[in-house]
Amino acid sequence: MCGIVGYVGDGNVYDILIKGLHRLEYRGYDSAGIALGTPSGKINIYKSQGKVSNLEDFCKDKNLEATSGIAHTRWATHGEPSDTNAHPHFSEDGNLALVHNGTIENYKVLKDALIQHGCTFHSETDTEVLVQLIEYIKLKNDCSLLDAVRMALKQVVGAYAIAVIEKNHPDKIIAARNSSPLAVGIGNNEMFLASDATPFVEYTNECVYLKDGEIAIIEKGEPLKIVNLDNRETQIDVTTLELSISQLEKGGYEHFMLKEIFEQPTTLRDCIRGRVIEGGKKIMLSGVIDGKEKFLNAKRIVIVACGTSWHAALLGKYLIQDMCKIPVEVEYASEFRYSNPILDEKDVVIAISQSGETADTLAAVKIARNMGAYVYGISNVVGSSIPRETESGTYIHVGPEIGVASTKAFTGQVMVLTLLALSIAQLKGTMTLEKISWLGEHILKIPSTVEKVLALNDKIERLSMKYTYAKNCLYLGRGFSYPVALEGALKLKEISYIHAEGYPAAEMKHGPIALIDEEMPSVIIAPKDHVYEKIVSNVQQVKARGGSIIAIVNEGDEIISKMADHVLEVPEMPECLTPIITSIPLQLLSYYIAINKGKDVDMPRNLAKSVTVE
Ligand code: G6P
Repeated sequence: MCGIVGYVGDGNVYDILIKGLHRLEYRGYDSAGIALGTPSGKINIYKSQGKVSNLEDFCKDKNLEATSGIAHTRWATHGEPSDTNAHPHFSEDGNLALVHNGTIENYKVLKDALIQHGCTFHSETDTEVLVQLIEYIKLKNDCSLLDAVRMALKQVVGAYAIAVIEKNHPDKIIAARNSSPLAVGIGNNEMFLASDATPFVEYTNECVYLKDGEIAIIEKGEPLKIVNLDNRETQIDVTTLELSISQLEKGGYEHFMLKEIFEQPTTLRDCIRGRVIEGGKKIMLSGVIDGKEKFLNAKRIVIVACGTSWHAALLGKYLIQDMCKIPVEVEYASEFRYSNPILDEKDVVIAISQSGETADTLAAVKIARNMGAYVYGISNVVGSSIPRETESGTYIHVGPEIGVASTKAFTGQVMVLTLLALSIAQLKGTMTLEKISWLGEHILKIPSTVEKVLALNDKIERLSMKYTYAKNCLYLGRGFSYPVALEGALKLKEISYIHAEGYPAAEMKHGPIALIDEEMPSVIIAPKDHVYEKIVSNVQQVKARGGSIIAIVNEGDEIISKMADHVLEVPEMPECLTPIITSIPLQLLSYYIAINKGKDVDMPRNLAKSVTVE
């Protein structure tokens, strides 16, 4: 995810763009840049790695005179965060500057063709391919920028929101979208452009959301014009903005955490895109292909992580052992590093970290590498330390996670671990092609299934009222649902400050059962799987001691539903895919309980999003 801002008008172009970038920083913050179109027919580009404030410092002594401009805050996908890879990108002759949010899937083919035509590339981004392609078409056909953009986009496969400016027409921006959002703000003799309406909501409440395949011509002194890729004018639907700035930054949600919970159908789609192919028959994880020999010959896999990522790691163990028949150990990174670990070149170490910066996990990575193990990273933040220190790996691609309590990153990590296990199994032949393809088909259905689970929101909000003042809570699950129980309990602890324990359901009778009474609710995760019958007896044991039960079961469940006080039904999925589905009601439950208690869910006390100290 990246953020785009554009402006044409008599206002202070630089100030408007920088303020807009700050509003969009939630979309990415690893580098930022600005292109200013000057009245004398020049384009000045200034870029800087890091947050938007770094760009501001960099621009302090620069020429900021402009009549139009485009700006970008980046969340790297192609190429590490750096000044060179930051947007905007120039075309080779410096006539055009372009910003882009999205991923160009066929960028390699386009890039190779452009190189053959003599183009040179300066960055590792897919975005530079776009600007070079537009310029190439423009020169070859001696056509307008609009026509060149139209022709170029017809060749492009992938998601994009783009904005382009041209040296000789400093009062005009051409913008287009496909799958990535873009909104135009219509002001009084001025126009704005942005990934969402937050950068311009204080200047105008007239907003046009571009649709896929539309190109906007934003020109000073002219009414907004929108055409499709065939240059036919399309109808302009103006929306009146009613949201406040603070609501808009959270996409209309009250908190980032809720927004991130609701983003999961999209983030999981992004995470799966291009990795489950041929309708589910094949799993393609480039990191696994890079480390093929190491995975094929691994005598053992050790997964290291902290916090929520450790819960994902535990699921990784179940998945890899089940699918790949390789023994797996899961370690807290903070324990692993001081446990005199025994590793050699036959071991594969997988480090999981949303931020890619957790100090203990990073230290574990360095120890493992020094001992000769092959180290694989699973991270969200492109270019962060863990991906840089590991030999290969996979990004979960869920976009910036702002809420301290991890939600969409957890489901992204579990998704990547599932794909990792399947791709190793594919290489090793430890699963039949039929089974892989059956699971692949179901994986493709996960985003829409998660949408159905999110429809439980209102029911969970009502249910949360009954448990707001609980002092303790037990989360129970078996098999794949045990790590889900741990994660559910952690979510409740983190944001509502209610003591909660996650336990393997069968272990309950060796201790925690002593705590159960009318005051101690239990959340039981019990989808229809191979241990379902076993968990039925655990439910009976809780019931017999007067404990109240919230059960997460599959639709149509008849046994546990009858025993539980409250039931949340989720669609059935193959057993190994249930954790992504069952963890979502638990995220919502802890969110609403914390809200009922008036807690700051996005920034809970004492916690940090990224723990970069020991
Ligand atoms: C902190 C965060 C947790 C996170 C953990 C590990 O404690 O509050 O949400 O799970 O760090 O972070 P990582 O970035 O390594 O996944």
